[in-house]
Amino acid sequence: MKSKSTLIVGLTWGDEAKGKIVDLLAAEHHIVVRYNGGNNAGHTVAFDGETYKLHLVPSGLFHKNATCVIGGGVVVDPKVLLEEIARHEGKAVRLRQRLLVSSRAHTIWPWHKLVEALSEKHQGKGKIGTTLRGIGPAYADKANRVHAIRLGEFLRPEHLWKKVERIVEDRNLVFTKVFGEAGLDAAAVWQEYAAYGEAIRPMIADTTAYLLGAVEKGKRILFEGAQGTLLDIDHGTYPYVTSSNASAAGAWPGTGVPARAIGEILGVVKAYTTRVGEGPFPTELKDALGDQIREQGHEYGTTTGRPRRCGWLDTFAIRYAARLNGIDGIVITLLDVLGKLPELKVCTGYKVGGRTLKEFPDDPAALQEAQPILESLEPWTEDISGARSFKELPRATRAYVKRVEEIIGAPVRMISVGPDREQTIFRP
Ligand code: IMP
Repeated sequence: MKSKSTLIVGLTWGDEAKGKIVDLLAAEHHIVVRYNGGNNAGHTVAFDGETYKLHLVPSGLFHKNATCVIGGGVVVDPKVLLEEIARHEGKAVRLRQRLLVSSRAHTIWPWHKLVEALSEKHQGKGKIGTTLRGIGPAYADKANRVHAIRLGEFLRPEHLWKKVERIVEDRNLVFTKVFGEAGLDAAAVWQEYAAYGEAIRPMIADTTAYLLGAVEKGKRILFEGAQGTLLDIDHGTYPYVTSSNASAAGAWPGTGVPARAIGEILGVVKAYTTRVGEGPFPTELKDALGDQIREQGHEYGTTTGRPRRCGWLDTFAIRYAARLNGIDGIVITLLDVLGKLPELKVCTGYKVGGRTLKEFPDDPAALQEAQPILESLEPWTEDISGARSFKELPRATRAYVKRVEEIIGAPVRMISVGPDREQTIFRP
């Protein structure tokens, strides 16, 4: 029998409004699980006139019957996790009883944030433009093993204190001797983090065992990807990527659930494309049109408040991401934002050195040079935020959606025309 589980993944550089989609679909699932990234993510959920910003807790938290799981592929900043639980537990019924955090998840500590800040500063123009949340250094430690701390180690405080003391001693050599900075105080760090560990302890679980059991019982699981496919460490626009598998490929290692137990994969794109941080972005509009999209779409980072770079919908990049993830359908968000633009274009391919590329480039230098091949489509001026069915949309809007489907080669299954749950069009 085909699994009834669903995976939601961003097809571009993140910020595709996946939070809204996960919140909507959570109503039809028993479990919502985050599989990658950490609090570099910013997911927004809006209903009943209120807006909620999430970074670490799965976007299913407002559905009282859903169990929320933070999988082992996520890097957890314990302080941020506790703050986020405290901020939302008034609205998210019995959240502490419904939230499980993997004992295998790696943790973010003050030395990760400090080393990232120093390194990004030191790189100057060559920086990645990270969110400075310690994500990269925490994943680097995971791969390097020696200084890594998994959440499960909080269950053995005596062992962990000794480990923290040793790590701080090693790290302080780098902070003081290489960067000429003051080092960290191991005892002070431990005092703070031991308290976080105690508070999180009841939520720490072998989530792999839990999820495998859930699969066997036929439970419906919703996999929530953070960031987007083009930020995937292996398949994205390296080195301007995040440090985890932000494509659907991250779900298996990030949860322990085998890929074949995932039923349907929905790829989320905005009706235009954005990017935060450094790195190539072929369809970027560095003019008044780009500014107009930014203002109409409120394109400022949920996590860092940085203005997002805005540009035309890059269907060439999206088609690559769609194939890579093996998507079954597309979700288009923020379609309302495109109304009132004087012109409308989509990118259908790239030219590098006068040559039209067949495939999305694997070489960052080629991507940097890529000139987008743009196709003009008819713009619309109507306000579509009140539309609740496809046929209520203006003809030009429907033509835009159909053209996107045609180029990407997958059906558009949901369209979001505003931040609220209600502002959604479902297509069979
Ligand atoms: P890091 O994930 O903080 O290491 O940042 C690496 C790159 O990914 C930077 O360009 C960030 O701006 C970008 N990034 C990380 N998380 C998100 C996200 O949730 N949305 C959009 N971009 C992100």
